[in-house]
Amino acid sequence: MRSETAPAIRLEDYKPPLYRIDKVALNVELTPNATRVTATLQVKRQPDTAAGASLVLDGDELSLAGIRLNGKTLDETAYTATAERLELLSPPAEPFELTLVTELDPDANTKLMGLYRSSGTYCTQCEAEGFRRITYFLDRPDILAVYTTRLEASKAECPVLLANGNLAEAGDIEGTDRHYAIWHDPHPKPAYLFALVAGDLAEVPDRFMTMSGKDVALNIYVEHGKEGLCDWAMDSLKRSMRWDEEVFGREYDLDVFNIVAVSDFNMGAMENKGLNIFNDKYVLADPETATDQDYANIEAVIAHEYFHNWTGNRITCRDWFQLCLKEGLTVFRDQEFSSDMRSRPAKRIADVRLLKSHQFPEDAGPLAHPVRPRTYHEINNFYTATVYEKGAEVVRMLQTLLGKQAFRKGLDLYFERHDGEATTIEAFLACFEEASSTDLEQFSLWYEQAGTPVVSVETEYDPDRKTFSVSLSQEIPPLAGQKSSKPAVIPLRFGLVGPNGEDMETGPVEGAKVNGDVLVLDKAHQDVVFQNVAAAPVLSLLRGFSAPVRLNQPLHSKDLLFLAAQDRDPFNRWQAVQTLAMQDLVRLAGLVREGADGVPSEDVIGVLASVLDETQLDEALRAQALTLPSEADIAQEIGKDVNPDAIHAAREILRRAVATRLGPSLLPFISGNSAGGSYSPDAQAAGKRALANRCLHYYAASGADDAADLVWSRFTSADNMTDRLAALTLLVHDHMPREDEALAAYRKRHTDSSLAMDKWFMTQAMAPGDQTLERVKALMSDPSYDAGNPNRVRSLLQSFATGNPTQFARADGAGFELVAESVLEIDKRNPQVASRLLTSFRSWRALDPQRSALAESALLRVSACENLSRDSRDIVDRTLQ
Ligand code: PHE
Ligand code: ZN
Repeated sequence: MRSETAPAIRLEDYKPPLYRIDKVALNVELTPNATRVTATLQVKRQPDTAAGASLVLDGDELSLAGIRLNGKTLDETAYTATAERLELLSPPAEPFELTLVTELDPDANTKLMGLYRSSGTYCTQCEAEGFRRITYFLDRPDILAVYTTRLEASKAECPVLLANGNLAEAGDIEGTDRHYAIWHDPHPKPAYLFALVAGDLAEVPDRFMTMSGKDVALNIYVEHGKEGLCDWAMDSLKRSMRWDEEVFGREYDLDVFNIVAVSDFNMGAMENKGLNIFNDKYVLADPETATDQDYANIEAVIAHEYFHNWTGNRITCRDWFQLCLKEGLTVFRDQEFSSDMRSRPAKRIADVRLLKSHQFPEDAGPLAHPVRPRTYHEINNFYTATVYEKGAEVVRMLQTLLGKQAFRKGLDLYFERHDGEATTIEAFLACFEEASSTDLEQFSLWYEQAGTPVVSVETEYDPDRKTFSVSLSQEIPPLAGQKSSKPAVIPLRFGLVGPNGEDMETGPVEGAKVNGDVLVLDKAHQDVVFQNVAAAPVLSLLRGFSAPVRLNQPLHSKDLLFLAAQDRDPFNRWQAVQTLAMQDLVRLAGLVREGADGVPSEDVIGVLASVLDETQLDEALRAQALTLPSEADIAQEIGKDVNPDAIHAAREILRRAVATRLGPSLLPFISGNSAGGSYSPDAQAAGKRALANRCLHYYAASGADDAADLVWSRFTSADNMTDRLAALTLLVHDHMPREDEALAAYRKRHTDSSLAMDKWFMTQAMAPGDQTLERVKALMSDPSYDAGNPNRVRSLLQSFATGNPTQFARADGAGFELVAESVLEIDKRNPQVASRLLTSFRSWRALDPQRSALAESALLRVSACENLSRDSRDIVDRTLQ
């Protein structure tokens, strides 16, 4: 029998729970294969619930070993229990105590949900529905309870015992080799925030004094020997805590804040109250093994999880449809934090790049869904770029529309009014409506409608009347399953750039609400007229990417060149360079496809080459401007009948042309920006390295005689991972002479660091060229490969499927087949990792007919599997729809 698609869960079916659980006492007796969990729940009937209505608790692969009601063992006729469900047939009308005993096998838990072991350490992952794999429970985020957790384990195996909240008591269990700890978390919380950790871990301690003078113990727990890799994470944590006080007035609320790094983790990290559990890749760093990008990611993820303490934990979600309530808002907060710590424009460009390359294709394909979905089959599949990144853009637009002050007022009201609650997007928006006296009904469409609006623009200058007319329209392209769309509220930051490059002052504006430099587009069509415009301006629109839309503004290349050189908005300067490059790349790809010789535009070569001399821009911005749109971005721009080989070739043609133009003038940037001093991960130093490595990337394609030697010597002499990996990537992706030697040397140097080895796998998986497929297959049986470790799987297979367009979408279909087969294999062990890998097929319909037919047959093969997980079933069904 083919696995059934799980029933749809719908937002409109939400009903408050029939019972409440106010207190939970857990006693967890840890052993590798037979952990006993005794859960004592204080249960209360809700006022509207009929006395005697049965109590149905969720379970997942559970086995019940005992059940007591108010201390008395229950008769078998009083309940039914399966692995997925426990029903108490006629519970008392008055509050009662229910005690449940379950037995777990943490070692056998390969899904990494619930209680499992990672390198011997016991740890938990409960979001979204993992708590039901520990005990039967009302496993939904609107059940808020106070948890007391007693852990018991072998002293030798688990000297460290941790759970949420503050430590209440600890001691030895006399006459045994075991000990215990009792943790109490006074803050009522949903079950998805429950966590425990037990193992033999090293502790890296520190302290933080909060703004009201409370002394908080901070600890990072890692495997022994890795204590020296925690400095940056700890520093990031302290800066996050201070920043949240200073910028949002939010203070920490327990005596201790613990972070544990584990090597087997499905996601990035988890914000469990007082006990964050992290994928170690977002904790561990030193210059030898971590790149500048790793440092930036660690800073952002540490901040993100910490910020959840207020946006997610103190105020949580009523149901999982409201996921963006905590995620969109928290991503917005971590983006703001990183902007304050680093260069704001560089951070904005990086975030927009990510949005466009991940969220836009999601929003245009079969997996499109609104920021707040209305229906799901498997909630695990909704931890998406749309919920996170577009969710953050929606919060950012709110700030843009209301202004910083009113936005902050609304957020303060939200914290004050909903602290301790599980709430909704409606309640969130109501706070901003009240604080700013603004009606946000139309704005709320951003949460309801899938798809990226296209904003089309035409302009006309009338020299006699001195008017500048801007005709604007918006539309969401049709999407399967979404009937029609309504006009959204789109804040467009803009400037009218005058001939001297300065923004022009104008007279009154008709046809749209304009607030400072923000014009609000809120109808399907709007004709806007600016009065008293002295000379013909160039319209710089969507500055700072003020809304997650596609802009269709047919600018002349002379205007784009002008903006690329003059726009005072650094984001739009970057965007102008990107647009020029993109237009030429699309043209070149078309020519390559027809078998014609592609010659890049002189203007485009010129504008890219001139970036190096823009010394008033910092190095990070220049490096970003010199980074061509990715192959996937170009494919997206082309939109249909995509041939990845032509795109790859076009990109190489342009790279070579720019490289040849710049030639030896690249050299001072390569040497000047690396040498000297000890490594520092700060934004400025990282920007210098980014520019140096970007220049090396061009130099390698310049045809210079010494290019190969220079790359090799960078590889061997690099004193930090950023530079070493940049050189290795060039050697491998450009198939330079000493490619294999470099890979062997890297491996030898880094065998003991699995995070560094992930980069070794990833570099090979992303290499263009026909030989990559065989190499990836061979790497899957390499002794350092581990199909049970999510980071390893992602570094090899996910990077192949999402980061190597020519080889994943090979014309012979072998790339699709490899990924489909791997999905089926991984699915048996870890459905979340498998279904995530499967999403790499989402743009299959945009490929040329031969390739899309091959992709479809690979998908059908996955779909034909009889016992596919619910996670992968959901993705494959929707992808094929
Ligand atoms: N809530 C986590 C975060 O955004 C992500 C996560 C989801 C982790 C589900 C594990 C499981 O920080
Ligand atoms: Zn989050």
